Amino acid sequence: MAHLPLIVQNDRRKRIDLAITIWLQMCTVASWFLVALGAIHSLHTYRPRVRSYILDFYAKRDYVKRLVYASDGTCIEQVRMNRTIFFKLCEMLQTLRELKSSRNMLVDEQVVMFLHIISHHLKNRVIKHHFNRSEETVSRSFHNVLNVVIRLQDVLFKKAEPITANSTDPRWKWFKVLE
Ligand SMILES: *[C@@H]1O[C@H](CO)[C@@H](O)[C@H](O)[C@H]1NC(C)=O
Ligand SMILES: *[C@@H]1O[C@H](CO)[C@@H](O)[C@H](O)[C@H]1NC(C)=O
Ligand SMILES: *[C@@H]1O[C@H](CO)[C@@H](O)[C@H](O)[C@H]1NC(C)=O
Repeated sequence: MAHLPLIVQNDRRKRIDLAITIWLQMCTVASWFLVALGAIHSLHTYRPRVRSYILDFYAKRDYVKRLVYASDGTCIEQVRMNRTIFFKLCEMLQTLRELKSSRNMLVDEQVVMFLHIISHHLKNRVIKHHFNRSEETVSRSFHNVLNVVIRLQDVLFKKAEPITANSTDPRWKWFKVLE
């Protein structure tokens, strides 16, 4: 008879221990479930965006490649300079005046747009269609490049040299009468 309360006590403790174990395991499972939900959620929200960004990026650069990088001939026709000069210009604009790549447009595409517009008097709407960009993006990058080019005028713009009266340039003879 003296042992009974001890057995009951032991039994109770065992049951409490069991309950605590079960509860802890349920918590663990619940937290795994939450982590899994979070992972699934982030997969759903991030994967499509990253994938379409990459696809977009290459699709949009396709026109730039055809316009400039395909051959010197096309490059001269479309942006009025050969590829060597085009690279040099991009490099100058980047290093001297810090024209920067934006989040989804590299420097060369901005410069191509700018040169294409001023070479052929194109409207932003035409460029927008060809480059598959919004009109706002076209306008913004045009003005970006324009600002940088204007600030580089000392380097880029050819300075006018005054012609002296004794110039031997054959074209000058047509003006000599005015002397
Ligand atoms: C590119 O153009 C520059 C200046 O017009 C010229 O000096 C250069 O030889 C050309 N390069 C090629 C590869 O045609
Ligand atoms: C770019 O092209 C895609 C499909 O070719 C089209 O859905 C999208 O509207 C175009 N974007 C612009 C700004 O023209
Ligand atoms: C032309 O005249 C200028 C001075 O007006 C002189 O410095 C220059 O040497 C002359 N050039 C030639 C080719 O005679």
